[in-house]
Amino acid sequence: MALLIQNGTVVTAEATFPADVLVEGTTIREVRAGIPADGHTVVDASGLLVLPGGVDAHTHLDMPFGGTTSADDFETGTRAAAIGGTTTIVDFAIQARGTKMRSALDTWWKKAQGKACIDYGLHMIVTDLGTSGLEDMDDMVREGVASFKLFMAYPNVLMVDDATIFKALQQTSKNGALVCMHAENGSVIDVIVQQALAEGKTAPVYHALTRPTVAEAEAVQRAIAMAEIAGAPVYIVHLSSEDALNQVREARDRGVPAFAETCPQYLLLSIEDQMPGKSFEEAKYVFTPPLREKKNQVKLWDGLKDDHLQVVSTDHCPFCFADQKVLGKDDFTKIPNGGPGIENRMQLIYHHGVNAGRLSLNRFVEITAAAPAKIFGMYPRKGTIAAGSDADIVLWDPKAEHTISAATHNMRVDYSMFEGFKVQGNASKVYSRGELIVDDGRFIGETGRGKYLRREARGGAWS
Ligand code: URP
Ligand code: ZN
Ligand code: ZN
Repeated sequence: MALLIQNGTVVTAEATFPADVLVEGTTIREVRAGIPADGHTVVDASGLLVLPGGVDAHTHLDMPFGGTTSADDFETGTRAAAIGGTTTIVDFAIQARGTKMRSALDTWWKKAQGKACIDYGLHMIVTDLGTSGLEDMDDMVREGVASFKLFMAYPNVLMVDDATIFKALQQTSKNGALVCMHAENGSVIDVIVQQALAEGKTAPVYHALTRPTVAEAEAVQRAIAMAEIAGAPVYIVHLSSEDALNQVREARDRGVPAFAETCPQYLLLSIEDQMPGKSFEEAKYVFTPPLREKKNQVKLWDGLKDDHLQVVSTDHCPFCFADQKVLGKDDFTKIPNGGPGIENRMQLIYHHGVNAGRLSLNRFVEITAAAPAKIFGMYPRKGTIAAGSDADIVLWDPKAEHTISAATHNMRVDYSMFEGFKVQGNASKVYSRGELIVDDGRFIGETGRGKYLRREARGGAWS
């Protein structure tokens, strides 16, 4: 028996239209007005938007980092994602220095095995190209790892030199994968950090104050320049500032295939509001790049509207305040870097984007689902409502009101970065491959049902 979603308003990146959606098994079969009920299981979506499931292209579940491990694993993290209307994530496996990437891939597959509640892909964090790293990258592409993240920051931990970045870019120009850059000048930042510590500046706010926006912009400019020389596309992750955005815009205006994402925290939180430098509580907002001055927010929203930025992801990397963030009580450099957000991305961007008149409905779907699916080689299987696509569907109630709070959220972390934020618009039912997995805020799917997504290496191509 097929599932028929009737009377809803379908929204894709391209169009908004009244239509019924017929789902057979795991796949959307038909999208048009007036599909007859014909003995199908009918769900009435009157008054609801029928959206493609959200695609969060940047999460860190069960990730060892900063002397501890991110608090959500693949079970709790993907369950929270689903409740918030996200049906696909792309997480990061980390190559340990001196080891094969395949071993990291095996490790991350094991982490997800039996736990993932929604479909997931993996990027590979490259820490070392060694003697066989370039062949390793091709090997990963064959396994559906169509993107690689490299770090220009975190010296002695994840940072790699320009030669490594350039070689990786050259390899992706051949194998079609996409390099994702953490773009901050880590060497310069490290000098500023050491000077701050020597002056006794140990509070969380100094994490932000020691990472100037120009250090981000310089790295973005360098990453794009290296990609241009290599003839490869490049994707800037978690872009946080106007200075960095200007570099992406300038490159795109010249026709360079540079893409960039930002995250809700950079759009909605600021140094002024969250980090006045008064208490250790501000460690909740220690992530990298850091929060910026408020004046950057409007520039990022405009960048999203005008397609200088293509994607909103979360960079979900949760650490509990009580027993993890506190590791940096006397030294901000020891605060594990990262913040939670996987559950709230769709609500926050819908409310502050669509309701606030900053984004059209179609642009909302584009930046939260279609564009990440396209850029990361999952489209049109994911990211749209169309015949042949996976039936990853969110029935979105534009009237539902919700107050975000750690007291009620589903992420396994003891605080919310958006505590007390009131949003209007929320997922009412969520289907993943045709299966109802979230009903009225409750996850009702089976843990471990999520499947690994073999992604196509298309170098960020759009269709
Ligand atoms: O602070 C952050 N962003 N933690 C996660 C690791 C990264 O750089 O994305
Ligand atoms: Zn990063
Ligand atoms: Zn990240």
